[in-house]
Amino acid sequence: MASKKYEMVITGGRVIDPALGFGKDAWVLIKDGRIAKIATPTAALKKEVDRIDKGGLIDATGKIVVPGLVDMHVHLREPGREDAETIESGCRAAAAGGFTSVCCMPNTTPRIDNQETVKFVQDRANTADARVYVVGAITKNIEGKELAEIGDLIKIGCVAITDDGHYVQNPEIMRRALEYSRMFDVPVMQHAEDQYLCGGGVMNESFQSSRLGLSGAPAVAEEIAVMRDIALCRFTGARLHIQHITTKGAVEAVRKAKAEGISVTAEVSPHHLILTDDEIGKEFNTNLRVNPPIRTAEDCNAVIEGLVDGTIDCIASDHAPHSEEDKDCEFDRAPAGMIGLETTLGLIKTYIVDKGYLSWADAIRKMTVNPAKILNLPGGSLAEDSPADITIIDPDKKWTVKADKFRSKSKNSPFIGYRLSGQIYKTILGGRVVFEL
Ligand code: DOR
Repeated sequence: MASKKYEMVITGGRVIDPALGFGKDAWVLIKDGRIAKIATPTAALKKEVDRIDKGGLIDATGKIVVPGLVDMHVHLREPGREDAETIESGCRAAAAGGFTSVCCMPNTTPRIDNQETVKFVQDRANTADARVYVVGAITKNIEGKELAEIGDLIKIGCVAITDDGHYVQNPEIMRRALEYSRMFDVPVMQHAEDQYLCGGGVMNESFQSSRLGLSGAPAVAEEIAVMRDIALCRFTGARLHIQHITTKGAVEAVRKAKAEGISVTAEVSPHHLILTDDEIGKEFNTNLRVNPPIRTAEDCNAVIEGLVDGTIDCIASDHAPHSEEDKDCEFDRAPAGMIGLETTLGLIKTYIVDKGYLSWADAIRKMTVNPAKILNLPGGSLAEDSPADITIIDPDKKWTVKADKFRSKSKNSPFIGYRLSGQIYKTILGGRVVFEL
């Protein structure tokens, strides 16, 4: 009988797969674009591997080999703002950041609130360098007034619903959205900021906003939004996912809800773990303008604590590209958002893993199996016969964030110039190398 011919073998690395509880030196063998097995090298295996084409041999000595990262919160801007990002460029950025799966938000132009637009995105994503999962809108045109055809959206493949960028302000509509989503076993992802309390604030309401004379969005806007939705989640028995959580009070509310057994999950973005509103007055860098806003050191500490104790399940970039023209204005006139796909891993390694808050395995868990589970995605693990979506990380490699190195069409990152530790070495999608350093 002819022996198996693997098309790719990753040797020499430390394989970490939190889903499998696996964490040791091993080889990863790939066949037909899928994981054939993870194995400790034996003489017989070495012989077998000798037969594969040299191009299929990847030496990962000194590297960490993990399941392809999953980013449950990105904006790809297509259709409508292809000057800022396209599905193709966003997925190239994803690959450079180690992400093999991304979930795109529906606040495009037009909005992703109907089957035709979902289909458009899915078709464009077919040849992209990452798997794209579409998150459909909760309400028509993200206006918060009338529910979108949620059943249709799920039927065509949406993995969740959200009005991201906007809070579903009307509690009756949110109740119905939760009830519908429950029938399809998908979560409602909520951008939790009460719009009335935010009142158009452009940064966190704090000592700093008063000092700078900028209008503030208070922490309580997020806390009230989270608490209301937890109450609705308890009432409906549906699944609620809090997007980009930022405040101490919101983390406490989610922690309590989880203890009560309510099916609420949460994600945090690197900037809300790392940056405080003290940064804004230094240069009025419009790339620091983001919704929800960057908060205080006390909030950052509370969010880190939530990440550590499991209150916060996932790390997501909230990659939000905006063109240079749009960001080149006064701070309070700039659109909210910063890119993040290409800096997330380095920031998490430098500010969370290196500081001892999370182990590599726990950090990877929050960027692989946890988001995959919440959204019922097929990825997130190197289990046998899974698609060969793999990220190889050079764990201690130092690098400087540079605007001209971004693959994203937009460069709106406040982290340009930061020196980070931990760099993506290779990204493999279905057995195909989509990024290499
Ligand atoms: O800062 C943000 N930008 N927050 C959001 O929720 C939306 C996003 C965007 O689309 O630019």
